[in-house]
Amino acid sequence: MFDSGFGGLTVARALIDLLPHESLVYVGDTGRYPYGPRDLEEVAGFARQIARHLVEEYDAKMLVVACNTAAAAAPLPELAAELGRPVVGVIEPGVRSLLKATETGRVGVIGTVGTIGSGAYQAAVAGIDPAAELTCAACPGFVEFVERGETESEQVRILAQRLLAPLHDAKVDALLLGCTHYPFLAHTIRTVMGREVVLVSSADETAFEIREALRGSDLAGDGAGGGPSYRFLSSGDVAWFEELGRRLLGPELLQAQACPW
Ligand code: DGL
Repeated sequence: MFDSGFGGLTVARALIDLLPHESLVYVGDTGRYPYGPRDLEEVAGFARQIARHLVEEYDAKMLVVACNTAAAAAPLPELAAELGRPVVGVIEPGVRSLLKATETGRVGVIGTVGTIGSGAYQAAVAGIDPAAELTCAACPGFVEFVERGETESEQVRILAQRLLAPLHDAKVDALLLGCTHYPFLAHTIRTVMGREVVLVSSADETAFEIREALRGSDLAGDGAGGGPSYRFLSSGDVAWFEELGRRLLGPELLQAQACPW
């Protein structure tokens, strides 16, 4: 599994809880974060490189792209064909859960500049429910607050008020956090949007999708041969990855190691 940094740990948490027999290797590409403002081609190149590393060095049986920007940038079926492994992304599971959560049909998606600009969510929502009224907003700056470990400050609340105004004005009743970093800002986002708006995180839905994909391909672990192992790699400051990562994920993140790039 990989993300540009700490965001994918929301998906890792859901995966560890739902599938306690499965082992996980997580790459946080913190040395090259944020992906959001980068050219999509460049992000697709990072995704390919990390995916190959996970397959070649760790013999990963399945790849989870726990990053919306990377999932929007890299064509996942092509990646799966290249790797010869199933690949699960976060966009489709998130959209399904968003459309289940709405009662009015007015839904919102927030994400990075790259994700929203790619049109991937607009296409996914239209593909499942063309009648849904979708409002999208890019939230530049949110990821940086999370990577600094600052999830509830006055500054992040002021930024959220400004960036979320279009969603508020559109009176959405369900809002998809279309960036895996954003669940860590849920408290701030809820304060700004109001308690009546359902916040949807793709993490749980993605974990269910992973379970189905593992079952469907006969790859599910059965716990034989000892407990699961959890490994964490960071391409940036490894000590900071361990410290903040443990705070955000929990005790499974005992230590991290450096990526070779
Ligand atoms: N967590 C990532 C996502 O879901 C990307 C954050 C970033 O690096 O900009 O899009």
